[in-house]
Amino acid sequence: MDKYIIDGGRRLCGSIRAQSAKNSVLPLFAASVLTEKQVIIREVPQIADVVCMAEILREIGAEVTFQNGDVLVDSANAKSHEIPYALTRELRSSVFMLGSLLTRFHRAMIAYPGGCDIGQRPIDLHLSALRSLGVSIRERDGYIFCECDKLRGAEIALDFPSVGATENILLAAVKAEGRTVLQGAAKEPEIVDLQNFLNAMGAKVHGAGSDVIEIEGVKTLGGVTFRPLKDRIEAGTFLIAGAICGGEVEVVGVQGENLRMLLHKLRENGCKVHAKNGKIRIESTGKLKCNRRIETMPYPGFPTDLQAQQTTLNCGAQGDALIEENLFETRFKFVPELKKMGADVEVKGRTAFVRGVEKLHGATVVSGDLRGGAALVLAALGAEGESEVLDLSHIDRGYSDFEGKLVGLGAAIRRVKL
Ligand code: EPZ
Repeated sequence: MDKYIIDGGRRLCGSIRAQSAKNSVLPLFAASVLTEKQVIIREVPQIADVVCMAEILREIGAEVTFQNGDVLVDSANAKSHEIPYALTRELRSSVFMLGSLLTRFHRAMIAYPGGCDIGQRPIDLHLSALRSLGVSIRERDGYIFCECDKLRGAEIALDFPSVGATENILLAAVKAEGRTVLQGAAKEPEIVDLQNFLNAMGAKVHGAGSDVIEIEGVKTLGGVTFRPLKDRIEAGTFLIAGAICGGEVEVVGVQGENLRMLLHKLRENGCKVHAKNGKIRIESTGKLKCNRRIETMPYPGFPTDLQAQQTTLNCGAQGDALIEENLFETRFKFVPELKKMGADVEVKGRTAFVRGVEKLHGATVVSGDLRGGAALVLAALGAEGESEVLDLSHIDRGYSDFEGKLVGLGAAIRRVKL
């Protein structure tokens, strides 16, 4: 497991191009097996989750080829509807293969995609929605068996705007008989991307980005060549890095309105933030004020995937901050590692009480999950002295060339292969 060695205290200056959004590309991979025609997804990020999703598609018999940064999916010969535990254990978001497999084969069998380090992550909303579409579901020995004679459109209401459940419903309803109306849908930009992808294949999906999505079932879906949305969470991570370290950082490719709440919070910290024509630029003195309060909420609220990074910023800012993590029950597991760097944080359930300190100091810390790991890197970049961040496997799941982009901005960070 590789590690980073980071020499903190450098200002960051420069511009990076955001990668394609991990949380858009993964559902697009699942959607690509809805048709037997060829699908091309442009500029796919080189991250472990994408490699794993490619393995899942190969497992059902699709041909997946990476070519000059694009991925070609040809699932004409796909025939298996089963995804083994080894793969669902690796990648929770394999759960939205259920919708695709049911549309393609009217059957699906996946190992229960268990919890992970940020929480239990149940899939009850997915399963109840699939039952509404006519799917019968059995769970035995850690596997979920789904089958239906056909998928029938239905009125579905989600008690919680689950991103994955919304995506699964779209994938299961696009070729269902009749119309599906989904109330209480997640409104993330990645859902809009999936709608655009499906409609480019010939589907009839409308309303993504709002809480009511309508899907008119169609008979066939064709191939598509598609360039996914850029990654607002990667972009936000680099903007927060610029805020913490001081300097001027620009991220190209992400619209400001997709990060509105983060930009509002960074201005509250005392940074200057400009968002225009798909470029977001932050100017920071590195001397920041705490946010007083942050509540993670479904989009367009403050994104849970940027909570760890913004909590880290507050640890080295002036004043106090109260951080409520409302989406996942254990998304503060990076805090004990931050405290090794001198952070003053007390976690009670879903709330972290932060007292800002003048400066964090370097330490050896262990990354335990994707966004918590990225947050520890940001803490080390802003800290005094040298740090080591161990176990980069989590960061490698979601950030392509993380250290390369940071070095390009002037950071003193290097990867040591272990
Ligand atoms: C997606 O996960 C993202 N992953 C997550 O990003 C992100 O944190 C999350 O949405 C929230 O924005 C991908 O898109 C691949 P949810 P997902 O279903 O779909 C509860 C990252 O760092 N819930 O919206 O799993 C669940 O327990 C990752 O890139 C149920 O109770 O999120 C959680 O508390 C981490 N029952 C809340 O909803 C269900 O059936 C949000 O989950 C489904 C979810």
